[in-house]
Amino acid sequence: MSIDITGTSAWQKLRAHHADFHAVHLRELFDEDPARGTELTVDAGDLHIDYSKHRVSRETLDLLIALAREAGVEERRDAMFAGDHINTSEDRAVLHTALRLPADASLTVDGQDVVADVHEVLTSMGAFADRVRSGEWTGFTGKRIRTIVNIGIGGSDLGPVMVYRALRHYADAGISLRFVSNIDPVDLVGQLADLDAETTLFIVASKTFSTLETLTNATAAKRWLFAGLGSEDVAAVAKHFVAVSTDAERVSAFGIDTVNMFGFWDWVGGRYSVDSAIGLSVMCAVGPVRFAEFLDGFHQIDTHFRTRPLEENAPAILGLIGLWYSNFFGAQSRAVLPYSNDLLRFPAYLQQLTMESNGKSVRSDGTPVTTSTGEIFWGEPGTNGQHAFYQLLHQGTWLVPADFIGFAESTDDLPTADGTGSMHDLLMSNFFAQTKVLAFGKSAEEIAAEGTPPELVPHKVMPGNRPTSTILAKELTPSVVGQLIALYEHQVFVEGAVWGLNPFDQWGVELGKTQALELGPALSSAEAPSDLGDSSTDALVNWYRKQRGR
Ligand code: F6P
Repeated sequence: MSIDITGTSAWQKLRAHHADFHAVHLRELFDEDPARGTELTVDAGDLHIDYSKHRVSRETLDLLIALAREAGVEERRDAMFAGDHINTSEDRAVLHTALRLPADASLTVDGQDVVADVHEVLTSMGAFADRVRSGEWTGFTGKRIRTIVNIGIGGSDLGPVMVYRALRHYADAGISLRFVSNIDPVDLVGQLADLDAETTLFIVASKTFSTLETLTNATAAKRWLFAGLGSEDVAAVAKHFVAVSTDAERVSAFGIDTVNMFGFWDWVGGRYSVDSAIGLSVMCAVGPVRFAEFLDGFHQIDTHFRTRPLEENAPAILGLIGLWYSNFFGAQSRAVLPYSNDLLRFPAYLQQLTMESNGKSVRSDGTPVTTSTGEIFWGEPGTNGQHAFYQLLHQGTWLVPADFIGFAESTDDLPTADGTGSMHDLLMSNFFAQTKVLAFGKSAEEIAAEGTPPELVPHKVMPGNRPTSTILAKELTPSVVGQLIALYEHQVFVEGAVWGLNPFDQWGVELGKTQALELGPALSSAEAPSDLGDSSTDALVNWYRKQRGR
């Protein structure tokens, strides 16, 4: 039986504390406790995290940690790492952390040596990646592979897309990656338009190998390959298609030889799978050594999360602060603002991670939750966001806590317009300025004192008290990308554990899939459908059919 977290004494204490504390301004908190700027920080792996600009006092943090303890977060964490079946609705272990265990670690789950299994797949991925990268693996006509197209969706797409973009500087074998995910034909057609079938390899990535989008796109890609090669020889499929899946039977039924299949396990959730064989495309681009560094980055944060007391535990602290805003301040979303164009897709990646995990209304035991769950994540790289939506962050009525992610070194740098400075320093001066202004703002008195006409003063007041986390690393290496992902994975875990959710299933996406299949014939058949179940859908489908001349 899940506990109702809102009925616990820790929750009640937080509620009372919020009533007293919610109006306290960050300016006051810093005035009263100047040490917070250096003390409310935590280092995890290569990440330096400042959480001092949050609307929390040291008492708030103690109360949040007490809440986590009352919710049993530590026990649940240990159960996850041990391989217990904490994904109860699917009766599965949740072991993405095992994907990044070093080869000499040991973990046996359900009678299976998980570490040996993981490293066996990593070794075969490495051998394949080396063959493709060296040119030993060629296409059907003997030419080396120049482009790899990953066909997958959701967790079988977003991770590789995001990581490839983040690590583009490490792609050193003359192989570029493309990604096709959407069932919108525009996606596949656009991605393949300028490619040469002879030098293109497809990775069909699907945990279940039953996903409509992926199988439809993969079938279309096979047709494109045959047309491009001018041959329908099945041997061409073996040279141009490999699969990543947990389902060998379905891979084989699709026509891909399981010799060219890289497996993973049902204990890896789709949104937690970029560090499994789902990362094969990334490994082909950056090489097995860099991929191992990427995995090591995850492992560093796993170790931190597993071993550090909650008081010094970065994912626990950040997850609990997120929950503080959601449940006590009524915040609905969190902005993720990377000051690195290479992390362009990080917010999109985090959307699946956080929202597919904790977007639930019932607890693990099926009882309804009694508080809001699931932070809504969104964001764009700075400084682009500054010229788009930051106005609302600074002066709007919503409280939007934000995560600022920045780096000391840039993957590229250029001189400033006057030639005296670095563009990266300019980027980072914006980074530091934004968190400062969001926290401390500018009062009406300060604005009036500058000689501002009185009627303009209210428009120019910057209220401040807008909370941010600052997450810094020296540079965006493969390891740091792994660390950043794991930092968020474990925040989601902490929040889900407090809310009593199962963050590892996603039943809410199923009905839409089956109804799309049911509606398909109505859209294309010669006969007009009589009753699709509701008058709106009837009318819309008939409108569509008419436009299509049916
Ligand atoms: O529809 C949601 C989902 O099941 C995700 O959880 C998953 O990442 C995605 O679809 C793709 O699934 P698969 O890898 O099985 O094709």
